Amino acid sequence: MAGSGVAHLRLGAEQILTVEELVVQFPTKGGQTVHAVSGISFDLLDGETLGILGESGCGKSSAGRAVMQLPPPTAGSVRLGNDELTGLNAQTVRERRARMQMIFQDPVSSLNPRRKVKDLVAEGPKIWGREVTREQIESVLHAVGLDPAVVWERRPHELSGGQCQRVCIARALMLDPEVLICDEPVSSLDVSVQAQILNLLEETKQRYGLSMVFIAHDLAVVKNISDRIMIMYLGKVCEVLPASSLAERALHPYTQLLLESVPDMTPPPIEAGTVAQRATGELPSPLNPPSGCRFRTRCPLATEECAAVEPQMREVEQGHFLACHNSGPGASGVA
Ligand SMILES: Nc1ncnc2c1ncn2[C@@H]1O[C@H](COP(=O)(O)OP(=O)(O)OP(=O)(O)O)[C@@H](O)[C@H]1O
Ligand SMILES: [Mg+2]
Repeated sequence: MAGSGVAHLRLGAEQILTVEELVVQFPTKGGQTVHAVSGISFDLLDGETLGILGESGCGKSSAGRAVMQLPPPTAGSVRLGNDELTGLNAQTVRERRARMQMIFQDPVSSLNPRRKVKDLVAEGPKIWGREVTREQIESVLHAVGLDPAVVWERRPHELSGGQCQRVCIARALMLDPEVLICDEPVSSLDVSVQAQILNLLEETKQRYGLSMVFIAHDLAVVKNISDRIMIMYLGKVCEVLPASSLAERALHPYTQLLLESVPDMTPPPIEAGTVAQRATGELPSPLNPPSGCRFRTRCPLATEECAAVEPQMREVEQGHFLACHNSGPGASGVA
């Protein structure tokens, strides 16, 4: 399967996580295939936060879960440091995966409702046969801003959504991970609690020396927390750029569309009339994705080339990569 290229991978750098040509497909009962993720690649450097941005259904969660091998991807490679995670037996995957933890979108349903906070937090190390002391649990609860005396005996339904997300972060920290994958960790929380949890994730990252993949569809949230941003559309990568360049320098028509949907982030126009005014239609079905560039059916810049040839990632300025025939320096076509 054709990917969108790997020009944005930083070869020669010390990557803590490298994902190459990741493919996730789901068979349907009717014998069709859902193409959720179709050959995406990305890497993560030590201490870095990579934001993955894209609209609902573009494959963000499928990609995050496949990186965790929950379930393993249909194809592609996932390396944690130098250790390959794909194609191994379940036990070896579990051992290697412990260095990478995931925080989910809905904190309440990701916790076992029958267990108390003290047991939920101790669960991970205990599965590995490690003793956990009361002091360790109290210390990690303090680190995520929970008072052990208050929450110790409580079950998830006795906590707020924000407190549940704090418990999830505490559970992940107990396993001393190097990489934290956060899948929309604040989207089910109200705005004031969102800010608290985002600050907590930022503090935790510094304090525990973590690297982070932060998945979200909220552009403002991703921009603030990330160093580098990868924009996904219908299972593909369309642009990768530094978070600090997003508002001023984004070039892909789809990224422009996302920026235009945020009132205070109007992007530089590609040409007269905004992309959002001219972009049409809904996200096409992942059962039958468009040929060539998958965004072409909604793209105001689309040409015949876009239907025939899938654009590959190319560097348009330092650290800024784009997969589009018709935008950015070196564009091959004119809309
Ligand atoms: N287990 C599954 N079986 C079949 N199709 C699935 C399965 N999981 C996801 N999909 C489909 O794969 C596509 C990508 O879904 P995914 O949940 O990865 O998107 P997402 O970008 O995380 O969306 P959201 O922002 O709404 O969470 C969607 O079309 C979805 O319906
Ligand atoms: Mg999702």
